[in-house]
Amino acid sequence: MAKNGDEVLNQTTQSVAAETKKREGKLKYGIIGTGWIAESHIQSLLKMDDVEIVALADLIPGKAEAFAEQWGVKGARYYPDHASMLKAEKLDAVSNCTYNVAHAQTTIDALNAGVNVLLEKPMCVTTEEAVEIMRAEKKSGKLLSIGFQPRMDENMKMIKRIVDSGVLGKIYYIQTGGGRRRGIPNSTFIEKSTGGIGAMGDIGCYSLDMVLNAIGYPKPLTVTGYTSNFFGTNPKYQRPDKFHTAAENAARFGVEDFAAAFVRLEGDIILDFRISWAMHLDTPGDTVILGTEGALRIPSTDCWNGTVGGAMTLYHDVAGEQTQTEIPILKTKEGLFDLKIRSFLDAVWDKGEPPIPSSQILYNQAIIDHIVKSAQLGKEIDVVIPEI
Ligand SMILES: NC(=O)c1ccc[n+]([C@@H]2O[C@H](COP(=O)([O-])OP(=O)(O)OC[C@H]3O[C@@H](n4cnc5c(N)ncnc54)[C@H](O)[C@@H]3O)[C@@H](O)[C@H]2O)c1
Repeated sequence: MAKNGDEVLNQTTQSVAAETKKREGKLKYGIIGTGWIAESHIQSLLKMDDVEIVALADLIPGKAEAFAEQWGVKGARYYPDHASMLKAEKLDAVSNCTYNVAHAQTTIDALNAGVNVLLEKPMCVTTEEAVEIMRAEKKSGKLLSIGFQPRMDENMKMIKRIVDSGVLGKIYYIQTGGGRRRGIPNSTFIEKSTGGIGAMGDIGCYSLDMVLNAIGYPKPLTVTGYTSNFFGTNPKYQRPDKFHTAAENAARFGVEDFAAAFVRLEGDIILDFRISWAMHLDTPGDTVILGTEGALRIPSTDCWNGTVGGAMTLYHDVAGEQTQTEIPILKTKEGLFDLKIRSFLDAVWDKGEPPIPSSQILYNQAIIDHIVKSAQLGKEIDVVIPEI
């Protein structure tokens, strides 16, 4: 049965606290944007001994205070926006939990203020924004990691291990994506002025990250993209929420609920991608990686959240016989969110490499942005990424 967006998000809940190395003192930590996903950040952060939540900012009056109260955060200071928080506080790091269109400015301002940033996915909305973020990152020398927690999943790591083992040979074609029959999240995700992009920014970026990370994030070269929003804009298929009727949500809907693309990647690899928040179908298909020596099938999830949907199958010839090998599901010991936050904190303490670097996610963002641009133009376009 199809799951709704809330159930997808519940899969980000935490289990036990990730292991913490002994650290002298605590990082002074802030949260920008105290909405839905900030709840997952705070739950993980509160388990970490080496962090003190000292400041929270949100544009909606009283929201940061109510959030702190709900999660038992004591002694923090509250701000009406990220800029006033960055001006008044001397922070070591922030979680950037704003909606997509605010990602770029808030991250750039935090980096310019000398603060390390854990930025929620997607990186931002456009290629140009991603480039501006990376310029600020480079100039500041601060650490920026993008919040793709499925990377912490052992099965996701296994996909990369399989590719790296060489068992697939030269990879030449990848089909990825997924989605839901009915699963439009509404909230701030559906308005152009807050979400900026729709299903691609919410769930498509995960499926792109799954395969692009596995094959070493080759540069995208050209994109033929298509987007539509037949379901989100139709009250018949919309849902009411706490604040809006179905008709109001249909009227607010300004992003894509479906996207498809054909992308040429460096290394002569074709990426065939599709993602859906709503359609008359349960899934647009499994993820498939075709190589000259073998192929990997990664079952689609009921409702795409970037983890694998079941045991993967490796198709290969053994001594001349066509053979299928099932890859058993691996257990991830700790909650993905705990691991995402922990790996970021450790990188901040150790002045290490970002767990999920912008240099990779730039290509993820560029693909999404060029799908939007190609769809608007109705033709294939070259991927243009300005110099960082
Ligand atoms: N990693 C995950 O599993 C996951 C899951 C859901 C959402 N997300 C991502 O998290 C982000 C936020 O999603 P959400 O559902 O929490 O959205 P939300 O609308 O519930 O919360 C965003 C909050 O940011 C605040 N905000 C915006 N600009 C601000 C600014 N300049 N200063 C201070 N506050 C500001 C808004 O007022 C709002 O309260 C999105 O980019 C989304 O893609 C990630």
